[in-house]
Amino acid sequence: MTTTISSVASPPLSAASIEAARRIIAAHSVLDGAALPILHALQEAFGYVPRECDPLIAAALNISRAEVHGIISFYHDFRRAPAGRHVLKLCRAESCQSAGGTGLAERLLGRLGLEWGGTTRDGSLMTVEAVYCLGLCACSPSALLDGEPMARLDDSTLATVVQEARAA
Ligand code: FES
Repeated sequence: MTTTISSVASPPLSAASIEAARRIIAAHSVLDGAALPILHALQEAFGYVPRECDPLIAAALNISRAEVHGIISFYHDFRRAPAGRHVLKLCRAESCQSAGGTGLAERLLGRLGLEWGGTTRDGSLMTVEAVYCLGLCACSPSALLDGEPMARLDDSTLATVVQEARAA
């Protein structure tokens, strides 16, 4: 079965969700270096950082929307759309790259029709994200699947991961 393209659109936030976001931002904006705690809290609450929150964060921290966007873009942990049912984080750091991780990732993304950070459309099955060193360098290439470490990956292992995710 062919899996098609990526980027699940982020749904518009309800009035209640915007109010919840306002409360989260207000609760964290008093902290030193409040931007990251706010973004982490929003992602924890919504599963991603909704774009509607950008102007709220900017106003609370007295920075521009572009600065908010810049922070979100800089850190790989933040998503702009809901993730799929499963999140596969493939390591892109040096040890995993030199152990074949780059080609492995390219082939997987190609098979799924995704770019980094993308989510498959077949029921939002899987999101594939980059991560930079999981401390499993001795067992490269490595990844996290839904937070569980996986090591010594190859094409066959990843194909099985996708197949099992689809069946789950
Ligand atoms: S470089 Fe991938 S786990 Fe360390």
